Amino acid sequence: MPTTEEPINMLSQPLNLPCGVVLKNRIVKSAMSDSLADGQGNPTDAQARLYEKWAEGGVGLSIIGEVQVDPKFPERPSNLVLCEQSNLKKLQSLTSKAKVNGAHIWAQLGHAGGLSHPTISQPKGPSALKIDNFECAGMSEAEVAQLPNIYAKAAMLAKEVGFSGVQIHAGHGFLLSQFLSPLFNHRNDMYAGDILSRCKIIIDIIDKVRSVVGEKFPIGIKINCTDQLEGGLTQQDALSAMSILDKTTIDLIEISGGSYFPGAKSSSDSLTKGPYFIDFSKKAKQRTSIPIVVTGGFKTREEAITSLQSHAADMVGIARALALDPTLANNWLNHTGNNPMFPRFTSVPEGGITAWYTMRLNAIGNDNESDYSLELEAAIETYENRDAARCIQWLAKFQ
Ligand SMILES: Cc1cc2nc3c(=O)[nH]c(=O)nc-3n(C[C@H](O)[C@H](O)[C@H](O)COP(=O)(O)O)c2cc1C
Repeated sequence: MPTTEEPINMLSQPLNLPCGVVLKNRIVKSAMSDSLADGQGNPTDAQARLYEKWAEGGVGLSIIGEVQVDPKFPERPSNLVLCEQSNLKKLQSLTSKAKVNGAHIWAQLGHAGGLSHPTISQPKGPSALKIDNFECAGMSEAEVAQLPNIYAKAAMLAKEVGFSGVQIHAGHGFLLSQFLSPLFNHRNDMYAGDILSRCKIIIDIIDKVRSVVGEKFPIGIKINCTDQLEGGLTQQDALSAMSILDKTTIDLIEISGGSYFPGAKSSSDSLTKGPYFIDFSKKAKQRTSIPIVVTGGFKTREEAITSLQSHAADMVGIARALALDPTLANNWLNHTGNNPMFPRFTSVPEGGITAWYTMRLNAIGNDNESDYSLELEAAIETYENRDAARCIQWLAKFQ
């Protein structure tokens, strides 16, 4: 018989990863591109403070979003970068703060591919593509073959500066998600065709990263169960990808969905009722014994506990709720406090929700979240104007 204690225990159970590392509880702060780097790929004090607050707030694992493996293909000019020009001291200072209280901090290794920020890059995906206003070039076979080395170098740097793991970003329409998607990947070589071939570059990257970071360093992956785009990755293929990943040395699979392709639906902008991907996650659990995090749409402690109790996932990934309340993990673990109050918006421009939460992360990092009260349009304007200024700094450093 379940006891009243059981729900609390589910969230606070430690989790053993295949590499031997133990995460102290089941709450993951999912990657959020926080727009807090300095415009030259390095962390700021406010960014370190943000991650310190989440660690103090009790999360078992925090993933820092969109840490770029190649400054030529960033998502935004406010991303961190792991390359020769990185400021290792500043990165070390960030990771040490983010690890207080026994929290793990992993770097999400990103490469935006065809969705690279056009002002500071020449976007290049698996194939040359032009759809409406979207346009990108295609990578040569030699360029694709170099990717495992590029990811491995970044992963080694991540380890050196104190990240306690890395997550390979293969979701949300960015480069590796583009390889998985028949909409983006029209290649005629070994990286295209059936799902096994479309996974090939991801497997090559995992193998190379593992060979440099060693057996005991956690490697995760974030992957879509649906792109929510016509012609994109299907759920059937996503399930096959789970079976393929099962044969790798990955330690944690995070399931997400949606895409930042212009006009597509992204999870971070979604206002529909969640959690979004529980049904897929249940099916994925039948395909792999690698621990699974399901992310998207969690608003209450009860939803999180139910997902774990029903064996839909091994961990819950939380983004926006942790931007509303950085102490949420402790509240849910100890059953103190309320679930966060989600704001209601009347008119919602595309990208407005994500911009609003991004600016809220900035307020938390600057310790002034209690004064945060932007409207969506103002959030978008602040976010875009600041990044426009950062583009100049980015180009000055990396061009
Ligand atoms: C401000 C913001 C930035 C995000 N940046 C990233 C990112 O860098 N990498 C990523 O994989 N997901 C990113 N996401 C998506 C979240 O990780 C998560 O998948 C999505 O928000 C759904 O979870 P939620 O309902 O708990 O917010 C971002 C979300 C938000 C709100």
